Amino acid sequence: MKAVAQDSLLGEVVFDAAQIASAVERLAAEIKRDYAGEPIMLVGVLKGAIAFYADLMRALGEHPLTLDFVVVSSYGSGREGGKGDVRLLKDLDQKPAGKNVLLVEDIVDEGLTLDYLLNNLRSREPRSLRACALMDKPFHRVVPVTIDYIGLTAPDAFLVGYGLDYQEGFRNLPYICKLKRHPQS
Ligand code: PRP
Repeated sequence: MKAVAQDSLLGEVVFDAAQIASAVERLAAEIKRDYAGEPIMLVGVLKGAIAFYADLMRALGEHPLTLDFVVVSSYGSGREGGKGDVRLLKDLDQKPAGKNVLLVEDIVDEGLTLDYLLNNLRSREPRSLRACALMDKPFHRVVPVTIDYIGLTAPDAFLVGYGLDYQEGFRNLPYICKLKRHPQS
């Protein structure tokens, strides 16, 4: 098997594991306080949210919650790296009607993905609907979206690690860093 020198693509670390853990703890504390023991349907947006979702879920400790996931399309007709047309590739397993749905995203960039999901879920009459993002990257917003819980503000760069990928690689990094030699980095 041919070895690929993936680490040569990795640039400056933007958020290390301790900074991420601290943001996750703060978000979990805010969520626990706001929901005050009310059960939450925690909806992860795969694949990017996988690391954040797993850590947030555990940081929520004994708060009652159920787990569910959606998968949305990754590519569209928007700007380079943008989403353009967003489509649901995998829907929820549970019905969201009457539930306190909390969407969990790794990053909000143009806002198209979150806007699509909020509209989609709102039409199915959840009891409440909020969004939590580890990172807000507000520089190229195409649609305004309300993010109820924001962990960190991302720089305007192509980021990988802690769930974020470049060509499906780097999701397993325990930190978030810039990617070298990319048009957007
Ligand atoms: C990323 C991220 C968000 C979305 C945000 O997912 O996880 O879901 O982009 O982008 P937007 O605000 O510009 O719409 P991606 O489509 O890269 O797929 P992935 O989750 O499988 O990495």
